[in-house]
Amino acid sequence: MQLANLAPVPELYVSYESSQKLKAEAGDLPSWDLTQRQICDLELLMNGGFFPLKGFMSEADYDGVVNDMRLADGALWPMPITLDVSEKFAETITPGSDIALRDQEGVILAILSVTDKWEPNKSHEAEKVFGADDLAHPTVNYLHNTAGKIYLGGPITGIQQPVHYDFKARRDTPNELRAYFRKMGWRKVVAFQTRNPLHRAHQELTFRAAKEAQANLLIHPAVGMTKPGDVDHFTRVRCYEAVLDQYPSSTTTMSLLNLAMRMGGPREAVWHGLIRKNHGVTHFIVGRDHAGPGKNSQGENFYGPYDAQALFKKHEAEIGVTMVDFKHMVYVQEKAQYFPSNEVPEDCTILDISGTELRRRLREGLEIPEWFSFPQVVEELRRTKPARSKQGFTVFFTGLSGSGKSTIANALMVKLMEMGGRPVTLLDGDVVRKHLSSELGFSKEHRDINIKRIGYVASEITKNGGIALCAPIAPYTATRRAVREMIESFGAFIEVHVATSLEECERRDRKGLYKLAREGKIKEFTGISDPYEAPTAAELVVDTENVSVDHCAHQVILKLESLGLIRG
Ligand code: PPS
Repeated sequence: MQLANLAPVPELYVSYESSQKLKAEAGDLPSWDLTQRQICDLELLMNGGFFPLKGFMSEADYDGVVNDMRLADGALWPMPITLDVSEKFAETITPGSDIALRDQEGVILAILSVTDKWEPNKSHEAEKVFGADDLAHPTVNYLHNTAGKIYLGGPITGIQQPVHYDFKARRDTPNELRAYFRKMGWRKVVAFQTRNPLHRAHQELTFRAAKEAQANLLIHPAVGMTKPGDVDHFTRVRCYEAVLDQYPSSTTTMSLLNLAMRMGGPREAVWHGLIRKNHGVTHFIVGRDHAGPGKNSQGENFYGPYDAQALFKKHEAEIGVTMVDFKHMVYVQEKAQYFPSNEVPEDCTILDISGTELRRRLREGLEIPEWFSFPQVVEELRRTKPARSKQGFTVFFTGLSGSGKSTIANALMVKLMEMGGRPVTLLDGDVVRKHLSSELGFSKEHRDINIKRIGYVASEITKNGGIALCAPIAPYTATRRAVREMIESFGAFIEVHVATSLEECERRDRKGLYKLAREGKIKEFTGISDPYEAPTAAELVVDTENVSVDHCAHQVILKLESLGLIRG
């Protein structure tokens, strides 16, 4: 095995003097405000984490990567690293021009010399890179519903690193890690990639992996972007710090990787290997269902459990990092210790708690045994995520105009206030349009802005432990999903489809709007001259025809009880 960590990896930064000069000049260039994901990608491009990439991919590199996992020069690279922008911005840019790339506060981080501009076939990208053009895959959903329509490619001139205010001492560039390994005399290093808190089984398996490879251990969690709904990185890092004490001192270190994961399973494993190689690592642990995105829209796994190991193994020599395959560790009660599942002594009792079961126990405030995790880790997790009955949540009603959303939401609000405990806010469609969105109309673009505003406010309420009741029409599936993702990082999101039929809404016509819409006096009216995409997987569907408002609101209360969000 080549000693990967002896020489530095090339970076894309210019010298301090040049960066000051460039920064002043770049003020006049057209600028692009980077998204959170683009900032993560840019950081790893600039610091050598994505070596041999020299910038955002050109069309030729992109095509090679999408179709064959190879850059135009033949080098192995499995993941497209592209700068997606809006059509409007792309119209102002021609290949040959330079653009300033800015962070969310407007600080110029780099200059992109644009060589390529093209409209990608996103469905093809999804099929080839993620194995399916299925919106249940979080990155395929991102590709279609968040990423811009046009890609720009070209080399990057790095001006400065993105600023991080958190856990500064735990963040290292590839060259800083290499230097650390050299200083410590660590010639073999096995890295463990994770997006989850570590429990005893992980500690056992990483320690064993290091022993087997006779290597030192690098805990290398991704803290850029992970799967929507994951435990936030602040909590995770506090948990990791607690677990670090459990390793024999000076065998193990931890460093945070500002990687925006793509949940791409096998391709992602190969990508992770290349990134770790750049960080000076010699061995890499690949587990069961590495970087798995969960279930597809048919309820099946996107990838086979060992596909990632197989693809990594196939390319191991080229990656230049040895794979250590993850042993599923289980606790053996009689021996009071962990064993790899294939080495359990006969007639012993195996104890195991799945991820789903752990989340249930945390949610319901149930015991988490000491054999499973470390008390400090459990304490951190409970601090961040108290039992569900103490967390904030959002009930999001959707349905046609006049379906009864506001009336049910009002009744629900009163019932929840009668119960007490948490503050309740009602974000009703009409009220929001008066106070938050008075300048907006009913085009798709304006409706989306309106719903995202509601989602943002609801997510803040949920984060701070309150109850948000939203009652807009919210006619588009993708926008409702975006709101769900915003909120689920902080608490439960319960979508309630108020499924009153168009005929019934029109018959009631409580505000007289359907009549006007039929006469063409109101344009873009939902259900008449504008679409309503009915939810297919709402948590609850309520039928308001021949049913009292009280009963409808009660159905929601029962749902909230069954989810453990309120105590009966
Ligand atoms: S959206 O699509 O979610 O942004 O719509 P929303 O903000 O919920 O709309 C709230 C109310 O606006 C009235 N209204 C219309 N609805 C649909 N289409 C058109 N063109 C329109 N123009 C005005 C209507 O009364 C909605 O109220 P509800 O409470 O749903 O009946």
